[in-house]
Amino acid sequence: MIDDVLGVVRCPHCGEGLARVAGSRAIGCASGHTFDVARQGYVNLLAGDARTTTADSAAMVAAREAFLGAGHLSPVADAVARAAGRAVGGEGVEGVEGVVLEIGAGTGYHLARTLDALPGRAGLALDLSKHAARRAARAHPRIGAVVCDAWEALPVASGAVAVALDVFAPRNAPELARVLAPGGGLVVVTPTPRHLRELLDADRGPCGARMLTVDERKEERLEARLGGWFDTTTAEESFVEYAVTLTPAEAAAAVAMGPGAKHATADASATPPADATQVPHAAPPAAASLEVTVSVRVALYRVR
Ligand SMILES: C[S@@+](CC[C@H](N)C(=O)[O-])C[C@H]1O[C@@H](n2cnc3c(N)ncnc32)[C@H](O)[C@@H]1O
Ligand SMILES: [Zn+2]
Repeated sequence: MIDDVLGVVRCPHCGEGLARVAGSRAIGCASGHTFDVARQGYVNLLAGDARTTTADSAAMVAAREAFLGAGHLSPVADAVARAAGRAVGGEGVEGVEGVVLEIGAGTGYHLARTLDALPGRAGLALDLSKHAARRAARAHPRIGAVVCDAWEALPVASGAVAVALDVFAPRNAPELARVLAPGGGLVVVTPTPRHLRELLDADRGPCGARMLTVDERKEERLEARLGGWFDTTTAEESFVEYAVTLTPAEAAAAVAMGPGAKHATADASATPPADATQVPHAAPPAAASLEVTVSVRVALYRVR
């Protein structure tokens, strides 16, 4: 619920704290800025005219929910939860206080799994897509979901976050470092070049959706981007790789939830992410099940 994270969210206009406005569904700051809590439980804290071109569409969010709901990334969620557990302090270590934040949280799948492993912590799901925030708000009783732009100042108090998760999502290093508590950690999941590689040859997405290849230099660029704010020399990394068998419908969902779907459909004018390269291909839709590789790097970075 949004009330679980009210103590850590901040007014996007003036930076003050937010509290429930008596007698309404809204939350507001002492300066009189108010924000409606949507019927679905999330709150929109976008400061103004945000670029929403990179936000996932309703169809992409639905496809992601179907794919994740089938459990295909469950071992990845486990690895994320383990890394988050180490970030907030393992056995015998003094714990880091604060909430668990997921940036570009999508449906809130990974955040919910991490909260299951960290009883008592509240979770803050941030996403630019209101379709995603709507789902994330329902993903776990301790999640509060907020619509905001990860590339702008985050509407989050400094030092309020014990661990931040970034799973295939935008990485605003200075803002993530600002909101993390001293000793806190950032868990970053990135695909390796083998991740879902087989889908490149068996595209079943709607409207000609295409998968994007993973740039081999991604890791190098990630560390360069984080380096000023996080200690990249002490990153704890693990690799998770396994095969899953997808039905034709699940393979279609995997394509439909990716950036290729966006470029081919509603948002053809959007610039592809800097770390992806489009690969055109014309493989006919497959009718049989497909074995695909899930292959990701999970890294825990400590804030400097
Ligand atoms: C590839 S999805 C990953 C979702 C989730 N982390 C997961 O792994 O299931 C990327 C997410 O980032 C969100 N996103 C894209 N641009 C964003 C921005 N500027 N600020 C916040 N979220 C953004 C999209 O709406 C989408 O939900
Ligand atoms: Zn305000």
